[in-house]
Amino acid sequence: MRRSERLRSLVRETRVTPDRLIYPLFVVPGRGVRREISSLPGCFHLSPDEAAREARAVEKLGIAGVILFGLPEGKDATGSQGWSEDGVVPRAVRAIRDECKELLVATDVCLCEYTSHGHCGVVEGGDVKNDPTLELLARMALAHARAGAHLVAPSDMMDGRVAAIRRALDGQDFADVAILSYAAKYASGFYGPFREAADSTPQFGDRRGYQMDPANVREALREVRLDLEEGADIVMVKPALPYLDVIRAVRESCDRPVAAYNVSGEYAMVKAAAQRGWIEEERVVRETLTSIARAGADVILTYHAKDFARWSH
Ligand code: PBG
Repeated sequence: MRRSERLRSLVRETRVTPDRLIYPLFVVPGRGVRREISSLPGCFHLSPDEAAREARAVEKLGIAGVILFGLPEGKDATGSQGWSEDGVVPRAVRAIRDECKELLVATDVCLCEYTSHGHCGVVEGGDVKNDPTLELLARMALAHARAGAHLVAPSDMMDGRVAAIRRALDGQDFADVAILSYAAKYASGFYGPFREAADSTPQFGDRRGYQMDPANVREALREVRLDLEEGADIVMVKPALPYLDVIRAVRESCDRPVAAYNVSGEYAMVKAAAQRGWIEEERVVRETLTSIARAGADVILTYHAKDFARWSH
């Protein structure tokens, strides 16, 4: 049954196609800006107009959607640029929705890219405060929904944020905006290149007070259950490759769509080794995405999406 590609293809159990992928974009202020991110070769800092151009290319490749991260003009203690209607992300969402008719637009909802201290929540007395953060996240999600986002993706790991966002959206007639929840997000070293790309390294301490301990899987199932009870539509595990067992466990614990985030560090390792000629990039990327799907992910967020879609055509 393995003797030819026809046979292998006939009995193949898992297939990854571009329509299951979401491609991350990093949006910066300005016009005509397209700067390669050194820690993520092949990915760019894009102004809203350039993000719209990039999104159009992504749409043409048959990729399902994009997820937007914003680097604001200025940061402050409460991340106010993050929930401004005129912030970089709402501007990019509007530009992309004007340019693309089919592409899904998701937005990352988190304060860390917008706060001067770099934490994902409001800081008081050196501590990240859960409950005061919820209202700011809800405001940010609303600003993204008003701009035209199809999905909002809270990545902060505060307790109760899915419920707070759902309530805010429903209250303003955005019942159709879906919540892609970063339900099981681990405190991981694999976010290193992203923090350079998003300029979101915490100025003190780390995120272990709100992100999950890499040793735990039962806790991931609990986080997923709570997010679903609060109204999440898709639950995500992040990172992906070091947590395939978690993806599998989440897949078996619920009947909702499961997403996995193949994060910046996973991408950077492949790129760096491929540049040295130590691995074959296409082969390793296909194997990686297939493994994540085989573990049970319906949706994969990945920086490899454009390359993968090109290889698939
Ligand atoms: C924001 C956020 C992070 C990532 C996605 N949303 C960084 C973090 O939590 O430190 C990481 C994505 C990646 O590494 O590709 N909270």
